[in-house]
Amino acid sequence: MKFAQRLSAIDISGIRKMFELAKRGDVVNLALGEPDFGIPPASKEAIVSGLERDFTHYTPNKGIAELREAIAEKLRRENRIDASAEDIIVTSGASEALHIAILALVEPHDEVLVPDPGFVSYSPLVRLAGGVPVSYRLSEESGFEPGLEELEAKLSRRTKLIIVNSPGNPTGAVFSRQTVRGIAELAESEGIPLLSDEVYERIIYEGEHHSFARYCAETITVNGFSKSYAMTGLRLGYVHAPGEAIEEMLKIHQYVQASTVSLSQLAALAALEQGEGHVREMVARFKKRRDLIMREISELPEVTCTVPKGAFYAFPNFSRYGSSGELAMALLEQAKVVVTPGTAFGDAGEGYLRLSFATSEENITEGMRRIKEYLDAQG
Ligand SMILES: Cc1ncc(COP(=O)(O)O)c(C=O)c1O
Repeated sequence: MKFAQRLSAIDISGIRKMFELAKRGDVVNLALGEPDFGIPPASKEAIVSGLERDFTHYTPNKGIAELREAIAEKLRRENRIDASAEDIIVTSGASEALHIAILALVEPHDEVLVPDPGFVSYSPLVRLAGGVPVSYRLSEESGFEPGLEELEAKLSRRTKLIIVNSPGNPTGAVFSRQTVRGIAELAESEGIPLLSDEVYERIIYEGEHHSFARYCAETITVNGFSKSYAMTGLRLGYVHAPGEAIEEMLKIHQYVQASTVSLSQLAALAALEQGEGHVREMVARFKKRRDLIMREISELPEVTCTVPKGAFYAFPNFSRYGSSGELAMALLEQAKVVVTPGTAFGDAGEGYLRLSFATSEENITEGMRRIKEYLDAQG
């Protein structure tokens, strides 16, 4: 078979590769990108009752009205975005939302600013649309918040879109209000839309979440239920944007997806209406684990780490121990710990490892013990 040229620049995700390797025997997995909790009980009940009444058919393309109303209400109340149900598409995870947003805006050779290190999907999705990802650096020295000067320097007349992500994967950074406002003002004054990926917004330990759309009208906000409500397998996300952008994205969504899973939409609605306690409990557990992993990291010789204020990843600097890829492989083979090399998230991730604390305290303690033993043996 002869495959399309657009795939030639796309590699299988670095994270997926580590997952395959993690299946081997007695390893401790610190590479997980999903909460290890169940979904809210009300969501389980909603799925069961939906199934019993055969709620298993296509839904409206944009998603069921009750869910879109509930999302719009949440966006108005929590994110202070002037949202209406009409301006929302319920998608198959935030992943689909990112895909249709990029496909709707990016033309061949257009440039899209992407964070480096940043979530693995951004650059491949830009390339699939024929665009060119242009990295902007997130540095440890600035707490992994983007600098305005750096962003400005990366703009060109071909820049079509700026992708932002707070709380950030893999860094755990939660952007300050000042950073969010600064970027929003820059985007507005340059007339470049923002694509804001806010999937970790509920998983915050210090600081507050600020939505870009509050400060920049031309913002496409992507969010979902995978992280906040531990629903990764139910594949439910959403996108909010000004009406005309939603109508364009809908053209793609309706042909590639038609509508998302009916029962998952019921689960998401129940989560928004009754899942608050569940989120709080989960975040409290994550915070304890965050504190535990930070204590363990502080015991590692010559390793520095910015405290993650959100998400469930620590992103320590192991540059003293050589390349991320080689270190991750050595840890897997010799210490039997799976971690994700920082380079899976871009060139600026070199020297770093992403350690997920979305796993039990026992796993964190044992995984970190093995890492320390390995590093100590390096002298
Ligand atoms: C920053 C970020 N955005 C989007 C996603 C995709 O989420 P979903 O499961 O909703 O497709 C992830 C998943 O790891 C993520 O980390």
